[in-house]
Amino acid sequence: MPDRIWSQVDDYLEDHLIGPDPVLDEVLAASDAAGLPPIAVSPLQGRMLHLLARAVGARWALEIGALAGYSTIWVARALQDGGRLVTLESDPRHAAVTSANIEQAGLADRVEVRLGPAARGLSELATVGAQFDFVFIDADKRNTWTYFDAAVGLCRGGALLVVDNLVARGDLVATRDPNAGGMRSFVENVGNDPRVEAVGIQTVGVKGHDGFALALVVGGS
Ligand code: SAH
Ligand code: DHB
Ligand code: MG
Repeated sequence: MPDRIWSQVDDYLEDHLIGPDPVLDEVLAASDAAGLPPIAVSPLQGRMLHLLARAVGARWALEIGALAGYSTIWVARALQDGGRLVTLESDPRHAAVTSANIEQAGLADRVEVRLGPAARGLSELATVGAQFDFVFIDADKRNTWTYFDAAVGLCRGGALLVVDNLVARGDLVATRDPNAGGMRSFVENVGNDPRVEAVGIQTVGVKGHDGFALALVVGGS
């Protein structure tokens, strides 16, 4: 079973590369206890987001889709002193679990959980002239391009945007459902967007076969 060896490899890498983290264990336990689905990024993926945010020296970060705040915490911990993360979450139950988890993680001073549809949050952020260095997009997949397009407009040059669930078991090229259609629309638009240079990378691991898109803001209009 390929899934089993993928998980074994993830376990091995996690054992050697990521130390014990009782806070994050608690976050996942609280998410399960609240009945939220187990669809957060994996620990290794969380560490990857953390390292990418650090690599771009992120001070201001934006997340779209918080769930229980697991990815939120990985990214928030990467921010430079005085940094802030805004996470947009439309489900009040998810937002409440996220806020509690952020508090538990000691990050309430630098994370703002903004309840409401991402489209509304993005237009509010535009009116206040937000300038982000790092963005993680992980909400309703069919609107990925809309969120990405708006988020790039809220980024400084050199910012990095990461999009989760690009491949979704191959649905990207193999199904007609609205989520897959949304991801295709994202890929096809981003490939013609002079503001960014982008790549898509397939992944395997505890979450099965999936992938990320990465896009660097390079200018253009
Ligand atoms: N980033 C999280 C997982 C997010 S799951 C992690 O890896 O830990 C996707 C989340 O997006 C869910 O919590 C869902 O409620 C939220 N979501 C779905 N549609 C949304 C919308 N239109 N606006 C904001 N959040 C949305
Ligand atoms: C699933 C995984 C995700 O990372 C996500 O954001 C939404 C759904 C899933 O496996 O169903
Ligand atoms: Mg995801």
